[in-house]
Amino acid sequence: MTASSLPTQSNLASQLINNILAIKPLAKLAKYQARKMIINRAEKIGVPWRENVRQLHLHNWEEELAKIENINLIYPEYYLCSFHAYETGNLSWESALEVESAAYAVHANIWPEAGINGDTRLRQNYHEVLKQQVIVPPQTILDIGCSVGMSTFSLQETYPQAEVTGLDLSPYHLAVAQYRTQEKNLAINWVHGAAESTGLSDASFDLVSAFLLFHELPQKAAQNIFQEARRLLRPGGYFTMMDMNPRAEAFKKMPPYVMTLLKSTEPYLDEYFTLDVAANLIDAGFKSPRITPMSPRHRTIVAQAE
Ligand SMILES: C[S@@+](CC[C@H](N)C(=O)[O-])C[C@H]1O[C@@H](n2cnc3c(N)ncnc32)[C@H](O)[C@@H]1O
Repeated sequence: MTASSLPTQSNLASQLINNILAIKPLAKLAKYQARKMIINRAEKIGVPWRENVRQLHLHNWEEELAKIENINLIYPEYYLCSFHAYETGNLSWESALEVESAAYAVHANIWPEAGINGDTRLRQNYHEVLKQQVIVPPQTILDIGCSVGMSTFSLQETYPQAEVTGLDLSPYHLAVAQYRTQEKNLAINWVHGAAESTGLSDASFDLVSAFLLFHELPQKAAQNIFQEARRLLRPGGYFTMMDMNPRAEAFKKMPPYVMTLLKSTEPYLDEYFTLDVAANLIDAGFKSPRITPMSPRHRTIVAQAE
């Protein structure tokens, strides 16, 4: 055994966690503990997680679901797995009713001083980059992987004149987005569909945006989505995305066992971290993708349709 192959404490811890996660009941327990920890942490920084969920449960969601769900939609195989410690991933009420609180909690530690405002700051930084790099304000916008609409609402706020559409594979997330639209008295078009085959018309958007979608995708799906975005954009239109930055120091310094835990809730993280986004965008018909780090852990990528 050479010095470099000697097991370090971190590697051993990582290996141990991998072994634990391979045993189903233990993985279940680990996910339960991780979930309990995140809820407690959220409530400590002022996100009333359990109260938010309790309030949302009072609504008639089945009625909301019936209005939005495309019952003929065939889900891609890669989507039908556990995500974020939810057994049925994004296809559940549990994830739909908790996702807003989870976003506030997870983004609270990006900037230690921001706390509960971390999520808002992340979205503002994205829009700052867009305002600088998307030269003509878009009139028609598609938000792919819109979930419960947090990214869609911030696009509408940044471009109040624009006609905005949000698209997602989860009808449960979309039901919450639709409910929030009524609360906010906005007119957003919600589509239950897959970002790689939207069924929307050619050249019908000035901007296709994806906020925190790509780390949830295998590489093949990501490549198909770049091509679909190119088809949907008018010539000169923009594709923009915001997601984790694999080159960020924060990830390089992350102890391997913490990374292992992160991967246990994000099944395609390795594929995302090794995807050459710029090269794939060029292959799909975009020119000069620009990558801008805009948080200690995130980057924004802007590319214009040829
Ligand atoms: C982390 S959430 C995105 C959050 C949201 N954009 C925001 O800013 O809060 C990822 C979303 O992408 C959706 N999604 C994953 N794969 C998809 C696909 N192929 N097509 C459409 N939506 C997809 C999931 O259902 C989930 O709602």
